[in-house]
Amino acid sequence: MIIEPLSVDRIGQVIDLMGTGAPYITPRTYSDYWLYATLFSATCPVAVAENTIAGAIIAFRSQDDPADIYLQDVITHPGHRRRGVTRLLLETVRAQGKKWGCRRLFLTSDPGNITAHATWTTLGFTNVPGDHVMNGISVVTDYKGPGRSRAVYESPV
Ligand SMILES: CC(C)(COP(=O)(O)OP(=O)(O)OC[C@H]1O[C@@H](n2cnc3c(N)ncnc32)[C@H](O)[C@@H]1OP(=O)(O)O)[C@@H](O)C(=O)NCCC(=O)NCCS
Repeated sequence: MIIEPLSVDRIGQVIDLMGTGAPYITPRTYSDYWLYATLFSATCPVAVAENTIAGAIIAFRSQDDPADIYLQDVITHPGHRRRGVTRLLLETVRAQGKKWGCRRLFLTSDPGNITAHATWTTLGFTNVPGDHVMNGISVVTDYKGPGRSRAVYESPV
């Protein structure tokens, strides 16, 4: 397994990978991934196994608070799950965050995504206390706007 920064050459493969993430992840446009590959590749690692993409993290350092890195999309191909791909990709983002002196990684998840909850709590994230609890997961109502309640997770870099 090789971890490499997202490149323009891989965009088609990454879009296909994101298509396997339903219902929690849907592919963004080619132009979005061009932007990530061209301006944010240091925090957008992809895992490559035999020239196919096994997983990816799309993350960004905040310009509003440069101590923060937000993980926008995290996905492992169904054929590669539970083999430590996300763990490995996350280490890459953490290492970059440490180099930059960042202090926090954070992300949001659909409150119904039990697998994501298990993943984030195992990988050192705290489920930030919200205003209600669903299936044992703390949720912030309308975190991303009306009707967009989310579980929020954070970890020190
Ligand atoms: C969530 C997801 C990214 C995890 O990726 P992964 O590469 O399989 O995760 P890892 O193998 O690195 O797992 C790390 C730890 O998370 C936990 N974990 C991961 N998947 C789990 C599952 N299905 N059930 C219970 N625990 C799980 C385990 O503790 C695991 O460590 P272990 O295997 O040593 O016990 C993957 O399931 C996925 O792509 N899901 C669809 C898209 C999605 O929901 N993304 C997250 C949006 S917030």
